[in-house]
Amino acid sequence: MPDDLDAMCRLYLELVKYEARFGWLSLLPMTAAAARVELADKLARGDGWCWLAESDGEDADMLAVHHPDHSGRIASAVRKPSPVAYVGSLYARPVSRGRGIGAALTAHAHAVAAAAGVEIILVHYAAPNPLSVPFWSRQGYRPLLTTWERLA
Ligand SMILES: CC(C)(COP(=O)(O)OP(=O)(O)OC[C@H]1O[C@@H](n2cnc3c(N)ncnc32)[C@H](O)[C@@H]1OP(=O)(O)O)[C@@H](O)C(=O)NCCC(=O)NCCS
Repeated sequence: MPDDLDAMCRLYLELVKYEARFGWLSLLPMTAAAARVELADKLARGDGWCWLAESDGEDADMLAVHHPDHSGRIASAVRKPSPVAYVGSLYARPVSRGRGIGAALTAHAHAVAAAAGVEIILVHYAAPNPLSVPFWSRQGYRPLLTTWERLA
């Protein structure tokens, strides 16, 4: 729902702040505005594939997945001739973690993608992130490629 844009943006910025400690993402002056444009665009499209979960009446978790029409750059990482979707962001507020909400959102996204004929879903995660590594493994994802960067 377009009304969910503010909540999605808040949760996305919390995700970037959390991930920034692992060196993959940084919170830049333009991050909030750029995220708002991208999320607003996704919410306005039928293929937006983003979901918000509530817990105890509060916005608790968000998941955004790029539809194959918008996953072109990453699709060449696999050779199988299938539409490829890409997990753009997943975040659960600290108070709502460990209650199965992240897994429930992910299962819903998997079902929506499968119904659209998607056989492959890719995700990037930072190897030192102690929350994402076990989580994605439990959701059935396996490492495909590892990238190392030296920060200047
Ligand atoms: C990753 C994240 C979304 C998981 O959400 P969550 O709602 O806490 O996860 P769930 O409660 O649905 O857990 C699902 C499974 O992952 C496992 N898991 C979740 N966190 C874990 C942890 N810290 N250590 C070990 N296993 C963990 C659970 O045990 C559960 O396994 P099960 O299938 O055996 O029950 C959440 O920890 C988070 O927002 N982290 C910060 C942001 C982040 O890292 N996002 C991912 C970026 S790629």
